[in-house]
Amino acid sequence: MYTTEILEDNHKNIMRMTAVVKKMCIGVMEGQEVVIDDFNAFCDFASLYGDQYHHMKEENFLFPEMIAKLKGHAEMMIEKGMLVDHNLGRAHIMSLRNALSDYQKDSSTYNKLLILTQAMGYVDVLESHILKENNVLFPYANQNLPEASQTMLDDMTKGFEKRMSNQGTIKKYLDILEKLENKYQ
Ligand SMILES: [Fe+2]
Ligand SMILES: [Fe+2]
Repeated sequence: MYTTEILEDNHKNIMRMTAVVKKMCIGVMEGQEVVIDDFNAFCDFASLYGDQYHHMKEENFLFPEMIAKLKGHAEMMIEKGMLVDHNLGRAHIMSLRNALSDYQKDSSTYNKLLILTQAMGYVDVLESHILKENNVLFPYANQNLPEASQTMLDDMTKGFEKRMSNQGTIKKYLDILEKLENKYQ
C-alpha cells in the first residue's frame, strides 16, 4: 500500500535523526559543550516532522481504519502499543525542552544528565517503535485491510502529502535534519 510505503520512508528520516542525536549525546559525554540550539532543533524536528506530519497520518488515517476493520489483534497492538509509544516520545520531548531551559539557567552536571536522559529516552522509544511498525503492524495492515480501505487510505495520504509538499513543509523539516546531519557526521 502507498500509505505504508510513505510511512516507512518517513521512518528512515526519523532514524537518520536518532543517529544524529546519539552522536550529539556521545559528544557531550566526551566533554563537548551542550549546543542548546541543536538540541532545540532536534525537538522541533520531533514535534513537527515526527508528530504533526508522521504520527498525524498514523493516528488519523491508518490506525482508525485498522481498528474499525480489523478490531481484535490490530486494536490491541495500536492502543496498548503504538499509541503508548507515541505518547512516551512526546513526553520525552517535552521533558527535554524543560531540561534545555533549566540548563540555560544552571549549567550543572545534573541538568546536563537530564538532557542526555531525555534525548536518549526518545531515541530508544522511537527506534524500537519503528521496528514494530515496519516488521509487524504495517505488514499486518497490508495483508489484512480490505482493498477498499487500502484505496481510501492511499487517496487520503496522497492528498495530505500533496498539501504538505505544496506548502514547502516537508522540505523545511528535512532541511533541519540535513543541517544537523552535516554538522555531526
Ligand atoms: Fe507510530
Ligand atoms: Fe511510524
